[in-house]
Amino acid sequence: MEMAGARDGGPRVGLVPTMGALHAGHRRLIDVARAECDVVVVSIFVNPAQFDREDDLLKYPRTLESDIQLCASSGVDVVFTPPTGEMYPAPLNCTIDVGRIADHLCGSHRPGHFRGVATVVMKLLQIAQPDRAYFGQKDAQQLAVIRHLVSDLNVPVEIVGVPTVREADGLAISSRNQRMGPEERRAAPVLYEALEVARQQITSGVTSVAQIREAATGIIEQRPGVKLEYLEIVDPGEMHPVEHVEHPVIAAGAIWVGSTRLIDNLLCAPPPVAPDLTGKGGS
Ligand code: PAJ
Repeated sequence: MEMAGARDGGPRVGLVPTMGALHAGHRRLIDVARAECDVVVVSIFVNPAQFDREDDLLKYPRTLESDIQLCASSGVDVVFTPPTGEMYPAPLNCTIDVGRIADHLCGSHRPGHFRGVATVVMKLLQIAQPDRAYFGQKDAQQLAVIRHLVSDLNVPVEIVGVPTVREADGLAISSRNQRMGPEERRAAPVLYEALEVARQQITSGVTSVAQIREAATGIIEQRPGVKLEYLEIVDPGEMHPVEHVEHPVIAAGAIWVGSTRLIDNLLCAPPPVAPDLTGKGGS
């Protein structure tokens, strides 16, 4: 598949990379791409290289027929659904080392995950040659990895981050949500609630991350049937934990509800520092 993008005087091409099982979150990415681009390409490829657990790969929902219908009704021009053997005809010799950005959060709990994501996204960008590529802020560390990837390796594409689409109770929409039973589903919004507590603390001026984490993790630890994997306050560029909140940060968490792993994050900005009107401030 080859396309001439706006750089060559051709139509503006937008790529929305997905693993299928399309839902309202993917749909939002497609709608934004549709509004900004002449040609919208959606890739659907369940990428084995980014799964750290075999059972997770096997259990991953595959709903190609309804995915294609959703794409058709959303005005997608091209659906790219390569077989695994086309993306990986042989084990790769070259893969992308994403460096320290994967040291924390999901990167530290899912060994090799972001290497697999960065490598497949690089391949998809090379194949589709889009002018813009669209990623959800729901996967904040993934978005940061992709931004570093294209800037560090001079990939000529604009990365667009799209806000998280949520259910009415705050739960971020994910293909993994379907795996939960009714009781688990009722418990699942606790991650969003905990991140909201972190955000409220930060917007009201609390700067100690120890204090913010204690308040937020307490909410999760009280909820039966839910296990906290991590809840961290990180800087949005490098995704490294901070100790004091002085600039906008991301509160990011992962929980297990039964055998379902859920992740979410919120951008949190501290209150603006009041200007010093006394005239006694530093020189
Ligand atoms: P997948 O989980 O299918 O997600 C595809 C895109 O949809 C990602 O950019 C993700 O952040 C976005 N997305 C998922 N749920 C969302 C929601 N509730 N609101 C907004 N955006 C949402 O992420 C992947 O696939 C893969 O890692 C991929 C990038 C395709 C590489 O294999």
